[in-house]
Amino acid sequence: MKTSLDKKVKDYEINNDYFNVLGEQSSAWRHEYLRHKNTILFRGDVLNENTFDKEFIDLIVTSPPYNVDIQYNSNKDDLSYEQYLDFSEKWMTNCFKWSKTQARFLLNIPLDKNKGGQKSVGADLTSLAQKIGWKYHSTIIWNEGNISRRTAWGSWLSASAPYVIAPVELIVVLFKDNWKKTNGSKNSDISKEDFMEWTNGLWTFNGESKKRIGHPAPFPIQLPHRGIKLFSYLRDVVFDPFAGSGTTLIAASNNNRIGVGLEIDINYCEIAKQRILKETNNIIFSNEKTKNTIRSHNGVL
Ligand SMILES: C[S@@+](CC[C@H](N)C(=O)[O-])C[C@H]1O[C@@H](n2cnc3c(N)ncnc32)[C@H](O)[C@@H]1O
Repeated sequence: MKTSLDKKVKDYEINNDYFNVLGEQSSAWRHEYLRHKNTILFRGDVLNENTFDKEFIDLIVTSPPYNVDIQYNSNKDDLSYEQYLDFSEKWMTNCFKWSKTQARFLLNIPLDKNKGGQKSVGADLTSLAQKIGWKYHSTIIWNEGNISRRTAWGSWLSASAPYVIAPVELIVVLFKDNWKKTNGSKNSDISKEDFMEWTNGLWTFNGESKKRIGHPAPFPIQLPHRGIKLFSYLRDVVFDPFAGSGTTLIAASNNNRIGVGLEIDINYCEIAKQRILKETNNIIFSNEKTKNTIRSHNGVL
């Protein structure tokens, strides 16, 4: 007779067939850098439409380069705004092609851009995504609560040209064809408390330390962790086309999803690899409120 523990074990098992959705491990367009437990990291370029030739994605959680002159190793982060929109259109189109029909897309982007001229990046990329075919669901505001970075006030104490900036980022929630999810394992693993808290679209948690991670722009694990729990089922394929230090892949693995990442830079692939090897057994969050949802890797302990 099956016990409830058997059922739980089954819920958390990763079926090897899922890896086969990607076919060949490496190809002319991508190099398999790491395959570990339920994680695959490829070195490759999201701008190349041949990188994948199948629809394999259930959920995308990603933060693209923001074009704010961050010193990445392998890509320029100081394009003109037109070039940046062109870059954004290309990668979001490729991700659309590689996504399953009910895929969701969590796009972490800035609200505004100030360096090199004020731009409504959040609004512009949201419109662009819809032009490509992504459908709009909603926007989560991530309140980073960090105002210490403020250096510019515009016209100090004068109405002539004051400078306003909100210490928040966006997580735009998009989807491919229909919002209602009928495919996949149909097993959700979110607690009542987290569901109630996270469906309130104002998320407050701190950013991640660049120094600690060794990457110029990592996001905190809370971001993909919440997105994965809220918007995907157990064993879904979670994709990050800008994997960086591997944060999304770690959150996917520790939540018993299949994490697939793409990263162009070999040094960041190595950072991601070392993090994944180290952090995908037991993950411990310091956030009190989420403590009750954190499980060990196999999810049954
Ligand atoms: C904002 S960072 C992502 C950080 C990641 N969320 C993390 O937590 O570490 C953007 C990443 O995209 C990578 N990248 C830039 N252009 C790329 C491209 N064309 N294809 C794949 N990766 C790219 C950069 O090397 C960088 O690591």
